Parts: sequence; structure tokens; C-alpha cells
Amino acid sequence: MKVFIAGVDGYLGWALAQHLVKRGHTVAGNDIFLRREWVEEVESTSATPVYSIDERLAAFREVHGVDLIFREVDLLDYPALREFLAEFQPDAIVHLAEMPSAPYSMIDQKHAAFTQTNNVIGSLNVLWAMREVCPDAHLVKLGTMGEYGTPNVDIPEGFFEIEYRGRKDVLPFPRQANSFYHLTKVHDTNNTMFACKTWGLRSTDIMQGVVFGTRIDAMGDDPRLFTRLDFDQCFGTAVNRFCCQAVVGHPLTLFGSGHMRRGFLPLRDSIQCLTITIENPPQKGEYRVFNQFEETYTIEELAQKVKEAGAAVGLDVEIGYYENPRTEKHEHYYNPDRQHLIDLGYVPTHDVVAEMKIMLQDLLPHRDRIMEKREILVPDIWWDRERHRAQQISPETTK
Ligand SMILES: NC(=O)c1ccc[n+]([C@@H]2O[C@H](COP(=O)([O-])OP(=O)(O)OC[C@H]3O[C@@H](n4cnc5c(N)ncnc54)[C@H](O)[C@@H]3O)[C@@H](O)[C@H]2O)c1
Repeated sequence: MKVFIAGVDGYLGWALAQHLVKRGHTVAGNDIFLRREWVEEVESTSATPVYSIDERLAAFREVHGVDLIFREVDLLDYPALREFLAEFQPDAIVHLAEMPSAPYSMIDQKHAAFTQTNNVIGSLNVLWAMREVCPDAHLVKLGTMGEYGTPNVDIPEGFFEIEYRGRKDVLPFPRQANSFYHLTKVHDTNNTMFACKTWGLRSTDIMQGVVFGTRIDAMGDDPRLFTRLDFDQCFGTAVNRFCCQAVVGHPLTLFGSGHMRRGFLPLRDSIQCLTITIENPPQKGEYRVFNQFEETYTIEELAQKVKEAGAAVGLDVEIGYYENPRTEKHEHYYNPDRQHLIDLGYVPTHDVVAEMKIMLQDLLPHRDRIMEKREILVPDIWWDRERHRAQQISPETTK
């Protein structure tokens, strides 16, 4: 198949491109290196070195024996995006090119407005370009499990049957996002669902859990082919951040009680699921939702697992409890479905401690790079600091 990856220079995109060419697909992609700039802006760096795009593309050709067709195109540059898609004529478009951090979107007005413009208009442009130049392509759109929030009932995959005042319908499950970033994904969901209904486009909207991991098999041992791994408060997701903290002997920065439960999955599972989705497209006009995670864990359970993995590689890992800068429930019900991908053949990794050991071993040689940025390991971007302090929001009062 011909697969277009929007955001191919990013954490998931760079890994996915390599996995897909190994399976015989032709891959093209765009990026404008915003992720590199954002991480610099928050005064951090990737724990694993990230090579220039020219070095990456050369290594891709040398090791995989094919070219990754790449163009530096902004999703907000509609004519350039449209032209690239018109020329490439993809069977599938995997849309990863969004600003992916909740804390970054909560810094101030400028960052919230940037996030919403980049993500919502970028995604809208993808829909319009598909309609105009490749209406039969399958859009694999990356959303997040964070779209649903933490409702006190089970979470289905996108839709649920409801009876209200004696009448029944199948409706979109309510979205209760908890940051301006997560809200962009909700807006994308509505726009994508509407485009499928109105124009007959086809799409799979992936509600993905939090991803962790340094590698997938397709990367081999060439460091130019490794993906990035961030550990700052904005772009370092929970387990990635914990593993980096573990290798430099910093306490793991658990927020609040650590009882918040979320869906998580290793990078290799994310790539496996995206590949299954691409290779099993929906019907024309169909909009479907897949929840994508290996398992749900509390943040505290994950910290304990990192501690266990650390002990296995000779690290004495300490767990620290920090004031939670986010406004969120600490004690809550959480039970999402994830059956659609299993039905299509997804085999979850399950042994996440083994995955964490691989991560720690990959990160240990880069201990100095993380050590240099040690001062950014404790979070200080608040959802609403004044209100939080005034109300003395504690794990008990946020139940
Ligand atoms: N990594 C996770 O844990 C996770 C979890 C759930 C959902 N997601 C979603 O998956 C997608 C990919 O995540 P990631 O971790 O690879 O993020 P990433 O930031 O590493 O990758 C996104 C890439 O898109 C590029 N990009 C952003 N805006 C662009 C634009 N306007 N034009 C061109 N390129 C642009 C960035 O430069 C970056 O390289 C995101 O949409 C994210 O919200 C990620």
C-alpha cells in the first residue's frame, strides 16, 4: 500500500515509517520539525540523540534499501499539502502531525491558541485535501483516550446505545477532555465524523493511550534510526519520563496520590496497532473509533514497575510524590473497552516490565544528556495555580 505519514519526523512517525517499509509498503511523509523546536523551547532535549533529517533519510535508504519520500510541508500550508497528496495518491494517510502535549497547551494564551490553530486547522486541511485529491484514501487519525476523560461508567469505542425518555439511539459517547490540547482532538473527532458522513470519506479515529518505549525491531542498532525520547514535563510522557529519571537517580515525579488510572501501551504495540488499522481499512463513508492501549494502570503502579525494572538492571529507584499541577480527579472509576483491535489481531505485549528494562538499558548510555537537564525534571506548569492553592485541592477534595 502507499501510506502517507503526516508528522513523520516525530516519536511515532519515525518508528512507523520504518515498520511499514519493512512490511513492503511505500511510505511518504511530511514534517516541519516543530517537535524539535518545542522541546528546545522548554529547555530540554531528547535523551536519545536525534539526527538531522538528511542523516535520518540517508540512514533510512542505506538500512532499509528504499527511500522515504519526504517533503518539508506545513499542514497549515494548504496548497503545498494538497499538491503532495495529489502527487503521491496514498491508500492511507496516518495523521500524527499535531502538537501533542497537554501542559504545553496550558502554558498561556499564546500556547493554547497555537495548539488549537495548529491541530484543528491542520486536521481540517487534511480532510479538505482528501476530499479534493484522494477521496478514496483511508484517514487513520490519531486521537487520544484523554478525549473521554474519566466518566463514572464504562467507556465504549466511540459510540454507545442509549435509552432516554423512552427512546433509543446509538450516539457518540460524551467527550470530557481535560486540557486545551485534548480538546483539539475532540474538535478533530467532530470534524472527521462530519466529513465521513457528508463527503463519504473513510476514517479510523484512534483513541490512543499513553505510549512508552525507546525502540521497535525495525530500527535495528543504527542510532540514526532510533526515535526520539523526551523527558521534560511537556513532551515526556509518564513512563518515558520515569525511566529517564530512574537512570539519573532522580525520584520518579508522581503527581498527587498517583491513583489516576489511564490506558498505556509500549511503542511496539502502538506501531502494531496502527499497522493493523492501515491494513484493514473501513468501508467508504465509514467512520469508526478504535480505543488503543495495552492495559490500564495507575500512575503509581507504573512507577512501581519502573522501580522493579530498575532493580533488575542495578538501579535503586526512589518514588517521589509531588503536588499535582493538573486539575484532575485522583480517585475515579476507569474501565474503557479495547476490543476492536483485538478482533483484528492485536496481540498486546503484556510484559511491560521487560519493555521498561529495554528502555533503561537504551537510556543508560545517555545518562549524561539527561543529567545536564536535571533541573527541568520537576513539573511547574499549572492548570490553575491560584485556584488550586486557594481551594487547597488535595487528593481527598478532588475525588
Ligand atoms: N505519544 C503518545 O503517547 C501519544 C498518545 C496519544 C496520542 N498521541 C498522538 O499521536 C500523534 C503523534 O504523537 P507523537 O508522540 O509522535 O508526537 P510528535 O510531536 O513526536 O510527532 C508529531 C510530529 O508532527 C509534526 N507536526 C506538528 N504540527 C505540524 C504541522 N502543522 N505541519 C507539519 N508537521 C507538523 C511535529 O514536528 C512532529 O514531528 C499526535 O497527534 C499525538 O497527539 C500520542
